[in-house]
Amino acid sequence: MKLDEALNLSVKSIDREIEHIVKLDKDVPRSSVIARGITQLVRSGGKRVRPLMVLVGSRFGPSPDKGKLLRLAAAAEFIHAASLIHDDVIDNSPMRRGQPALHMQFGVQEAIHIGNYMSARVIELISIYSAERERYAYDLSSIATTQLCIGEYQQLSHAFDYNQTLDDYLAKSKNKTAQLIASCLKIGALAAKATNETAELLYTFGEKLGLSFQIRDDILDFTSSSQQLGKPAGSDLRQGQVTLPVLYALEDPELAPLIRSIGPASSAEEVELVLAAITASGALERAESLSQQFLGEAEAIILQLADYPAHQDLRVLLNYFAGRSY
Ligand code: FPP
Ligand code: MG
Repeated sequence: MKLDEALNLSVKSIDREIEHIVKLDKDVPRSSVIARGITQLVRSGGKRVRPLMVLVGSRFGPSPDKGKLLRLAAAAEFIHAASLIHDDVIDNSPMRRGQPALHMQFGVQEAIHIGNYMSARVIELISIYSAERERYAYDLSSIATTQLCIGEYQQLSHAFDYNQTLDDYLAKSKNKTAQLIASCLKIGALAAKATNETAELLYTFGEKLGLSFQIRDDILDFTSSSQQLGKPAGSDLRQGQVTLPVLYALEDPELAPLIRSIGPASSAEEVELVLAAITASGALERAESLSQQFLGEAEAIILQLADYPAHQDLRVLLNYFAGRSY
């Protein structure tokens, strides 16, 4: 079953709201690169996990306002999509969701304009909810985007830095991946007037899911084919990303010098050799175990929210992130 069906939500209504934003935008003609780029991006797929999480969060509050929640959900997708446009330019990654990345279709400059426009527009779109009483909307439009940028910068500034620690890795992963997922649940909850305590528990739940997801994503870079990933396998190591499996493998005194020898000028063969050595070292299993630990911690939070019928939806999300049967 698809995630939206399992949650009894409709991705179509989220997509309609996103397209609405583009259609109603008087500053951008429908035929412009910006409007075409955004429309194309939205139609290119994606599971709308973040918007769905906004809507799930709202089930923990007494007053969900459907229109407002759909706008917040669409805003969350806008922020996410804008970050991926920039990410693909930074990573020089030609493919996204099995199709040419936006910068390959429209050009790098155009893609950067589109990404900037989307993330700026989001602030304007939901500023109507940013009155003091509803500060959460500001948190989504502004703080979440800032954290994404900080996370991306942490990753960039630690490229080929084999001295970074597990704490560095987790801080980067929280900023780059987990906090947006966590914010979506929290913001949905606050928009429906849930208590702060419940919203914070939802945030922590989302953060654990996000960290588990990031670790899984790092492992996939070792275990999947280029075709499955939609980008060359082993890209992370080649680009100097010291992901969790690499950190664990660096603890092996025999492996460490080999890993540390990898730099921007390393050949494809050298990278292949190190990828194989890390895979054989047991580091992927250790990383998987930390990913599972985060899922376990998330599960414990569901128990704390068991009085809400919507806690079942958290279980659906947990299973989804665990890669089980949805
Ligand atoms: C995917 O990383 C990228 C992110 C989760 C966020 C990237 C954030 C920015 C580039 C900051 C700019 C954002 C805005 C809105 C101005 P990945 O490369 O590990 O994953 P991938 O395999 O999906 O590319
Ligand atoms: Mg990338």
